[in-house]
Amino acid sequence: MTRLLVTGGAGFIGSNFVHHVLENTDHEVTVLDKLTYAGNLASLDGLPENRFTFVKGDIADAELVDELFPTVDAVVHYAAESHNDNSLDNPRPFLDTNIIGTYTLLEAARRHDTRLHHISTDEVYGDLELDDPARFTEQTPYNPSSPYSSTKAGSDLLVRAWVRSFGVRATISNCSNNYGPYQHIEKFIPRQITNVIRGIRPKLYGAGENVRDWIHADDHSSAVLRILDAGVIGETYLIGADGEKNNKDVVELILTLMGQDAGAYDHVTDRAGHDLRYAIDWTKLRDELGWQPKYRDFEAGMAATIDWYRAHEDWWAPAKDGVEAFYASKGQ
Ligand code: NAD
Ligand code: DAU
Repeated sequence: MTRLLVTGGAGFIGSNFVHHVLENTDHEVTVLDKLTYAGNLASLDGLPENRFTFVKGDIADAELVDELFPTVDAVVHYAAESHNDNSLDNPRPFLDTNIIGTYTLLEAARRHDTRLHHISTDEVYGDLELDDPARFTEQTPYNPSSPYSSTKAGSDLLVRAWVRSFGVRATISNCSNNYGPYQHIEKFIPRQITNVIRGIRPKLYGAGENVRDWIHADDHSSAVLRILDAGVIGETYLIGADGEKNNKDVVELILTLMGQDAGAYDHVTDRAGHDLRYAIDWTKLRDELGWQPKYRDFEAGMAATIDWYRAHEDWWAPAKDGVEAFYASKGQ
């Protein structure tokens, strides 16, 4: 049995990870989460009380972090400000959480010699041309585009420096776009699903040619567990599942699966600096750690995700009007 501290465990991917760990291992989990607008305690309902503890707090609170680290065997660091559109509107919280928060955790890992796994994104590599067959690898140079991705890139570089200079026992993973249950409705897929449920036309930025490489959040969780178990300290692992799709195809699939005309969406103002294409080469994770994704059928995964949002209107409805008002103010 291992005791894990999961930062950001009330968010989308963190909560999926907590469910995955408690269902598939005998580990104990403590979640540290600030419960920002993106955190939702309801995402952690029904977990076994004898193996799960929730602590409300900020990863940048050095005193609190210092109390928690000695109580666990390893830390899995998901907490972040995660939405590109918000980072274009107000970058400051991204610096506070993604940079200072990660620094605070690294200093605690150093003081307590605690194993740490840092969760990051493929967006640190910037973007690829639409007609370029290349994919990101662990050797791709960093070239982030947005305030969000630049603060994630900064946090990755802090982790690398703390490994090399202070011997902190850390690994990093950079994953592609996740989908699945518990994703905040500000994000592309749940925004469009909940729009259709509400009778609002889906909104596609620009021409909708931008490509994202989709992976189910549960596959992300199994990959992170594998890295925690067998990853080599100081190494970076890319996580993906060969799920490249352009945004137009994704919106049309959602509309079709929800019984609507595939063309019933609007083109809206494009995102500033909008990355064109992400694509992950996850050969290292497969060959060195023997990991494989389970969710290979995107259409089936999307249908299950649509069902989840239909069945959990109480989970997302309180945020819907505010999210749509924010986008409307930007012509999106
Ligand atoms: P999210 O926005 O859904 O959740 C973030 C969580 O972190 C929330 O529960 C929030 O309350 C918490 N949090 C924010 N600031 C905090 C702070 N200062 N202290 C403590 N808790 C804080 O994000 P997500 O989409 O689940 O992403 C989780 C992680 O995965 C992030 O590090 C993100 O960069 C990374 N990632 C996300 C994706 C994706 O597709 N969503 C892909 C690759 C990597
Ligand atoms: O690649 C991993 C990243 O994926 C993570 O690091 C981020 O935390 C996560 O938010 C996600 O970033 P994206 O910017 O790719 O995701 P988002 O859901 O915001 O948008 C996906 C694509 O859809 C992107 O090309 C923008 C477009 N989009 C988005 C919204 C919200 C639309 O066309 N319409 C929309 O309404």
